[in-house]
Amino acid sequence: GWRTPHIYLYQGFWCQPKEIQAIINFQQHFQARDTDLILVTMPKSGTTWLKAMAFAVLNRKSSISKNHPLLTSNPHDLVPFLEYKLYANNQLPDLSMLPQPRLLATHVPFASLPASIKNSDCRIVYLCRNPLDTFVSSWHFLMKVRPETLGPISMEEGFEMYCRGAMAFGPFWKHMLEYWNESLQPPNKMLFMKYEDTKEDPVFQLKRLANFLGVPFSFEEEREGVAEEISRLCSFENLKNLEVNQTGRSIGYFENKNLFRKGVVGDWVNHLTPSMADQIFQIMKGKLAGSGLEFKVF
Ligand code: PPS
Repeated sequence: GWRTPHIYLYQGFWCQPKEIQAIINFQQHFQARDTDLILVTMPKSGTTWLKAMAFAVLNRKSSISKNHPLLTSNPHDLVPFLEYKLYANNQLPDLSMLPQPRLLATHVPFASLPASIKNSDCRIVYLCRNPLDTFVSSWHFLMKVRPETLGPISMEEGFEMYCRGAMAFGPFWKHMLEYWNESLQPPNKMLFMKYEDTKEDPVFQLKRLANFLGVPFSFEEEREGVAEEISRLCSFENLKNLEVNQTGRSIGYFENKNLFRKGVVGDWVNHLTPSMADQIFQIMKGKLAGSGLEFKVF
């Protein structure tokens, strides 16, 4: 839920009470390996897309256009969330059986990641999206998945909470800044990607991702246009229209079709008033000043 009584501040970030135990179990029990690859996002900033791209980059042996797993499985089934899936419902899973490298995902802020993630040589990919579109996406999603019993919530009310940082795994500025600052530190443990850059040039970003994950595209693959093929496979239009993404439920009770709405940069202009937009611009200016973290918003 979005209303204050339903979300709690835990270790400086907001989360739903039912998520806290899973986050604690993840923090206490997860043992990272040097070969692990961890995908991190704020909710609604392109998680589904990043999962698809990373999975496709790592699994490009099978014929991409004919029988790739992404054609019949939702990206959230192929790359599980640590807190929403593996450690959910009080489970303490045995993750030692997962194929290596283990490709896993989380929304947990950097400061609250288990120590073994920070201390091992595992690698982290962070995908960041501009806060205006992220808010609009979150609000639409909430409208679709919020239980009717909780009653409606106005966009203004949701907006006000977003601007106070009171949204899942927020404040958003703290989440992105922690990972941004970490990505500037040696060693080369983290790759920082942006949703907007990836929309603009997916093939270039897929090549960055492949290099970072240790599986660069070969000359042969370059010649065959494999990155281009992966880019098409993972595109919004392609994933949205697959049957599995129109019908299944891969994260809790949410319908997969709600994970695909518009998939563009700049849809906020159709939803936010000038004053709302200005409020977010002011927050970005204030909180991100001097960090070097900037966004294209159109
Ligand atoms: S979740 O629930 O946190 O996993 O949601 P998340 O995937 O982070 O965010 C959903 C938004 O991402 C858009 N989306 C995509 N954009 C580009 N390419 C692909 N393949 C893609 N898949 C999903 C989705 O439409 C949501 O954004 P909006 O702005 O609401 O359309």
